[in-house]
Amino acid sequence: MTAGSGAASEGPIVTLDGPAGSGKSSTAKAVARVLGYRHLDSGALYRALTLALLRAGIALDDWPEISEEFLLGLDVDMRPTEQGFTIWVGGAPVDTELRTQEVTEHVSHLARLPAVRRCLLDLQRRAGSGGRLVADGRDMGTVVFPDAEVKIYLVADVKERARRRLLEQGRAESDQVELALQIETIADRDRRDSQRDISPLRKAADAHEIDTTGLDFQDQVDAVVARVRRLTLS
Ligand code: DC
Repeated sequence: MTAGSGAASEGPIVTLDGPAGSGKSSTAKAVARVLGYRHLDSGALYRALTLALLRAGIALDDWPEISEEFLLGLDVDMRPTEQGFTIWVGGAPVDTELRTQEVTEHVSHLARLPAVRRCLLDLQRRAGSGGRLVADGRDMGTVVFPDAEVKIYLVADVKERARRRLLEQGRAESDQVELALQIETIADRDRRDSQRDISPLRKAADAHEIDTTGLDFQDQVDAVVARVRRLTLS
């Protein structure tokens, strides 16, 4: 796997961590655009490995036994673009394939495996080697970039996060049955992400928490950009 500019650190790294649906990825992408930094969506890497395993037909029960060497051989790659990174699986770029229900349902089972986290750690760090990066995920500020200049932890009420997920998927947020199901799915993923032994979802001690429940998207982006400017220009 290869990624990143490979240059010595030349600028700040901004981390945005938080639970599913807290608005991390969309906020990180917009913040990166305003600052002229690259955006790293680390969840997409976990999704790419999940997609590769599903395509290889490996049964879920066998995932815990998979070695790092096997994972490296799945040919998951990242290529820098002007604004971020394109993810490649098996020699072809992937995008919408990473967000299918099947991948979403399987990904947190994969994310708790030590071999998987070791395999992706180096790739993510190389993406940050040139600095000027906004990285979002679950352990960006705690494990992958513990020395990041700016760390943000986004939270939002589970009902609001479920509502956003339904909107993203073009489904009616007013459907109470769908909403209840989505709340259950998100709560389940929160539990798996925060209770796993390795790199659990948690706020870094030096992260700044922003609750996005009642925030308008632009306010959310402005709040992060203002914090980055305050901490990196002083
Ligand atoms: O943010 P997302 O929904 O695309 O993340 C997909 C899964 O990957 C989610 O279950 C948590 C996991 N993940 C992780 O464990 N560590 C990260 N840095 C990013 C994502």
